[in-house]
Amino acid sequence: MKRYFLTGTDTDAGKTLISAALLQRAVLDGHTSFGLKPIASGSDVTEVGLRNRDALLHQKYSSGNLGYEVHNPITLKPAIAPHIAAQEAGLSLTCSSLIESCENGLIQTADYQLIEGAGGWLVPLNDKETLADFTATLDLPVILVIGLKLGCINHACLTVEAIQQRGLTVAGWVANSVDPDMEAQQDNLRYLTQWFNQRDIQSLGTVPHIASIDPFDEDSLKQVSDCLHWPD
Ligand SMILES: Nc1ncnc2c1ncn2[C@@H]1O[C@H](COP(=O)(O)OP(=O)(O)OP(=O)(O)O)[C@@H](O)[C@H]1O
Ligand SMILES: [Mg+2]
Repeated sequence: MKRYFLTGTDTDAGKTLISAALLQRAVLDGHTSFGLKPIASGSDVTEVGLRNRDALLHQKYSSGNLGYEVHNPITLKPAIAPHIAAQEAGLSLTCSSLIESCENGLIQTADYQLIEGAGGWLVPLNDKETLADFTATLDLPVILVIGLKLGCINHACLTVEAIQQRGLTVAGWVANSVDPDMEAQQDNLRYLTQWFNQRDIQSLGTVPHIASIDPFDEDSLKQVSDCLHWPD
């Protein structure tokens, strides 16, 4: 069983798209998969309760037929920073309460497991703790999704240093072309590649910009999962 925490250089870096595609990759390769989104803000009111798009994708591309709450124990309605959304909902969010809420997910035994963060690496849970504390407590290796856009080199390098300063491992990185108009993308990619190579951190793939991407459509998502592999 392999379990990773997946973070990004920022919100909208493509964490969910890459998570869904890696889960699909595992199943296409004959393995079982499980995706978890511990805390999701920005959710829709439905007949069966609050539902978040990221978590629905985790559920869709996970093996087995587990209930929504197993994939997303904390679901918050407003599309704002999770600790503020939690406060508004009257929830006292701590690192240990979040881990407790994830218990039904953390006992899963699928071959390949992904836990998607929210926003970037240091997203707060409360005034003292961040999602990085959650990852460190569970001692998870980290996959970093880099949303390729102006400024991403600085964000990527800062994130790797912050992860490593906690004594955690960066298991791999994904370059994801979120901005179709990014100038000098190849030069940025070349810098990132040599920077990660110097640190022996493997690339898990480069994903081009796919304007028509629909991650809920399996054939469409395959364009992304065909670009990716799990850490060795
Ligand atoms: N390579 C790509 N080509 C085209 N569109 C993309 C690509 N990567 C991401 N997107 C789109 O960008 C948007 C943000 O991606 P995604 O939801 O995966 O980001 P995220 O990092 O999970 O964001 P959040 O912080 O909200 O969880 C989505 O609409 C997604 O489909
Ligand atoms: Mg997401």
